[in-house]
Amino acid sequence: MKDYKKINKIAWNKKTAVHQDSIFYDMPSFKAGKNTLKRIELDLLGNIEQQSVLHLQCHFGQDSISMSRMGARVTGVDLSDKSIELARTLATELNQDVQFVNCDLYSLREHVSDHYDIVFTSYGTIIWLPDLKAWAKTIYESLKPGGRFVMADFHPVIWMYNDDVDDFAFSYFNQGAIVEVEEGTYADRSANLNDQMITWNHSLSETIMALIDAGLVIKDFQEYDYAPYHFIPPLKEVEASKYRLKHTEHLLPLVYSIVAEK
Ligand SMILES: C[S@@+](CC[C@H](N)C(=O)[O-])C[C@H]1O[C@@H](n2cnc3c(N)ncnc32)[C@H](O)[C@@H]1O
Repeated sequence: MKDYKKINKIAWNKKTAVHQDSIFYDMPSFKAGKNTLKRIELDLLGNIEQQSVLHLQCHFGQDSISMSRMGARVTGVDLSDKSIELARTLATELNQDVQFVNCDLYSLREHVSDHYDIVFTSYGTIIWLPDLKAWAKTIYESLKPGGRFVMADFHPVIWMYNDDVDDFAFSYFNQGAIVEVEEGTYADRSANLNDQMITWNHSLSETIMALIDAGLVIKDFQEYDYAPYHFIPPLKEVEASKYRLKHTEHLLPLVYSIVAEK
């Protein structure tokens, strides 16, 4: 699957154009000062004032700029050149001194030589990556000794299901590349997009062991029976910013979080 970066970059560049005007990403509120981080990761991050943060897969930088507004010195990294272009424009417009780097995660250390207090990544990240051992090594190499890795992402159990979450479609375990064409995008289902995308399912054990094998010490691991985003169609908001599946009484894990230390 050697072309996956090229294919996914095209898809993410097109998504960026739609996402920036979407209700999902609510640019007017963000520009007016709204912090786009969710309660889950805000609680895990704590006070990040004066901390250096490397934000992996930052998309067009709303969360990176939010962390900068919280007083952190932030560097955001993303594969999509259109996302990084927009992130830089937003940072300038909002007077936030955030560095943005356009590169593939696996070549990050060729572009970024600093070491950080925190490496952060959230929601819709590792499914785009084939090799978690190399991902974890990059995180380890980017942290200062004693630095923290903070991650919140959608739970791999949910990626076993079809779009309606009423039947199994994929293995829980990583069985190689999943090639799909998505109609629209999670931030706007009616958008005129139908691009090929290549993703991988990663079990929790694959993810956790990659971090441990890279040399990180897991400090906290949580699973959540809600998501802070309406990221798949069959969800309903049960409380402010808490979404659960609407067609089943049974609670499925929708999000997990990890904090690890170097
Ligand atoms: C769902 S976004 C995650 C960010 C955040 N949850 C948000 O909504 O702003 C996924 C991001 O991963 C990036 N990405 C995908 N593959 C990548 C890779 N190999 N290296 C770096 N970034 C990648 C995409 O360009 C996209 O911006």
